[in-house]
Amino acid sequence: MALWGGRFSEPTDDDMRALQDSIGFDKRMYAQDIAGSIAYARAIAAAGVINPLQAVSIIDGLHKILGEFDDGIFEFKPGDEDIHTAVERRLIELTGPLGGKLHTGRSRNDQVATDFRLWALDAVKEIDELVMGLQVGLVEQAEKHLHTVMPGYTHMQPAQPITMAHWLMSFFWMLSRDRERLSDMRRRTSVSPLGSGALAGTPFAVDRDALATDLGFDSVSENSLDAVSDRDYVAELLFALALTGAHLSRLAEDVIIYSNPLFGYITLNDRYSTGSSLMPQKRNADPMELARGKTGRLIGNLTRILVVLKGLPSTYNKDLQEDKEALFDSVDTIKLLLPVVTAIINTLQARPEKMRAALDEEMLATDMADYLVRKGLPFRQAHHIIGEAVRLSATHSLKLSQIPLGHLKELSELFEDDVADVFNFDESVGRRKAKGGTAPEAVAEQISSAKNWLETHEL
Ligand code: ARG
Repeated sequence: MALWGGRFSEPTDDDMRALQDSIGFDKRMYAQDIAGSIAYARAIAAAGVINPLQAVSIIDGLHKILGEFDDGIFEFKPGDEDIHTAVERRLIELTGPLGGKLHTGRSRNDQVATDFRLWALDAVKEIDELVMGLQVGLVEQAEKHLHTVMPGYTHMQPAQPITMAHWLMSFFWMLSRDRERLSDMRRRTSVSPLGSGALAGTPFAVDRDALATDLGFDSVSENSLDAVSDRDYVAELLFALALTGAHLSRLAEDVIIYSNPLFGYITLNDRYSTGSSLMPQKRNADPMELARGKTGRLIGNLTRILVVLKGLPSTYNKDLQEDKEALFDSVDTIKLLLPVVTAIINTLQARPEKMRAALDEEMLATDMADYLVRKGLPFRQAHHIIGEAVRLSATHSLKLSQIPLGHLKELSELFEDDVADVFNFDESVGRRKAKGGTAPEAVAEQISSAKNWLETHEL
């Protein structure tokens, strides 16, 4: 008989049970469920619903159940619909009818909301640390490549030379925003719904503030109707993870392209590369393709929760049970992904000579225009003139630096011998030393801001 079976004369249909049971996945919240129950036992004892001795028996029973779960010996029974009913059923087995007092004034609605928030808070902390690990890896790799010059791209077309450190650090800042999002959503997650009852609140004198503090929440929900159905924190965390995934996926895409032999700028460590069962020469960046591919799941899970939430009438509806697998899946996915992506960054082998070889003088066309600008020409005219120079070089299969000065002078008499100085990739990079630029000295400053950021952003 179900815990709620009193008003029914027939047992639940088996197919119906298979549809509605959530124990298969929500059992992973057992520690949070039991922590919530222990705190709740203390709270109803303080409210005079049970006496102190009864509270001790209930709490002892709950500790025993926690031990059974920890040791993997908890026995599930057919009526265990979800983690809440399983724990309560076992508590009554252990303590007799006394165990049946624990649910006084409580509903699975405020209970599940509490458990899942506690679970999400733990997950946020773990993920934050993993993202930090990747940030540290990026900084360490960047420090080795302040002077490694490589092609920079826009539209995936060669654009201007940049330093490898600058490229790596661009991902550091994406991840810094991801971690800010985690710490921001953490605040809204750390709100205790416990004591909201099924929807209308509890008629017992439960000190909700003390209960919240006992569980480590920062604050208490203000409205019981909202509290039992608020899954904004799930949507926010799913969004945060989807966007982190999008950032990892962009990094993955760069790594896939730069490790392709046509580019050859970087080599992935053997431990993170895979071969082909057919083609002996292959060296694939599978983990990065998975980072790209699994981001599809992360985005899918965000969509999933938003669709579940959008049409719900007020307060708890069983649709909300669909929140769990979405979040579990995203959390598991990102936790699987981040250590591998971090290891790939930590062990990345740069091929500076390949980067050099790919630097084309056309990537200095902007610098050539800037040369004319420094001699007083408006940039728009300079842009046009250099465009003609590029066309000239292309039609005569010459590098820009090989166009005879005489021909350049026909385009603008501002060209002089010193135009030869433009054709230096290191100097091009070195000139971009304003804050946020790719010059080694600017990137060194960027790295010190990044280290400072890391020190001031512990969750
Ligand atoms: N397994 C349920 C869930 O995850 C627990 C809450 C059930 N509440 C109820 N009124 N049926 O949402």
